[in-house]
Amino acid sequence: MTQLRLPAGLVPSGCSPTFTADSLPKALGEEHALGAGRWGVLQLLEGSASFVDLKRNVERPMTAPDTQVIAPLAPHKLRVSGPLTCRIDFFVEDGRSPDSITERRETDPVRESFARCERAGDFATTFYDTFLGASPEIAPFFVETSFEKQRKLLRATVQIMVTRHVSDLPAREVLERIGESHSRQQLNIPPRLYEVWLDSVCLTVEAMDPEWSEEVGHQWRERLRPGMQLIMAAY
Ligand code: HEM
Repeated sequence: MTQLRLPAGLVPSGCSPTFTADSLPKALGEEHALGAGRWGVLQLLEGSASFVDLKRNVERPMTAPDTQVIAPLAPHKLRVSGPLTCRIDFFVEDGRSPDSITERRETDPVRESFARCERAGDFATTFYDTFLGASPEIAPFFVETSFEKQRKLLRATVQIMVTRHVSDLPAREVLERIGESHSRQQLNIPPRLYEVWLDSVCLTVEAMDPEWSEEVGHQWRERLRPGMQLIMAAY
């Protein structure tokens, strides 16, 4: 089966919960389709499954880490025969809601929280201390890294993810380039490690922001997820 690519210009619009073979809704194993203008990326994070394209009547076996792009209105189902962990990231063709803003307000709570973190210390230093310690899988990826440069790049990217909407062209270009560098052809970062990345950013904020609250943590997660989904979709 030729691997379908996500077309350019789509905007992340949410994601499913992370499912295991036990929690996977029965409906995903039966014929179904996404609505008009809605795309999906099935992220097979662990285990294996088969994606069945019912329009072309072809079955594609998948072994984690793997992704499958799902086009609007295309009938499909998932065939599960063993343990797995998966999630579906959703994208829309015109996701720009009328109130989406190009440059977020100065009074934006996540932006303010980021500014408080930066007044408290070096965000990227705390982040990498947290991220590298978060799982034994992370550090081996960074054995040859010059952290002085890496911290600057990370800080600049988080700043973009906090202050710009993913449909803004310059922000999108940055995220798509990171997606390319992290894809299986280059750094080959397994998609399941992105939740560790997101948790590490949130733990960094919790440690650095003197005004941190559950609500601020939640808002950070919501803010960073669309950019993260865009990066993961390029895997
Ligand atoms: C949304 C999440 C992430 C963002 C925004 C991000 C951002 C970046 C940026 C800006 C760079 C430098 C420029 C580039 O290579 O494109 C980079 C490099 C890198 N990232 Fe990520 N990253 C993310 C997730 C991850 C994850 C989950 C891993 C898992 C280990 C990872 C591992 C790396 C590695 C190994 C490098 C190369 C370091 C080097 O140059 O030696 N990243 N990342």
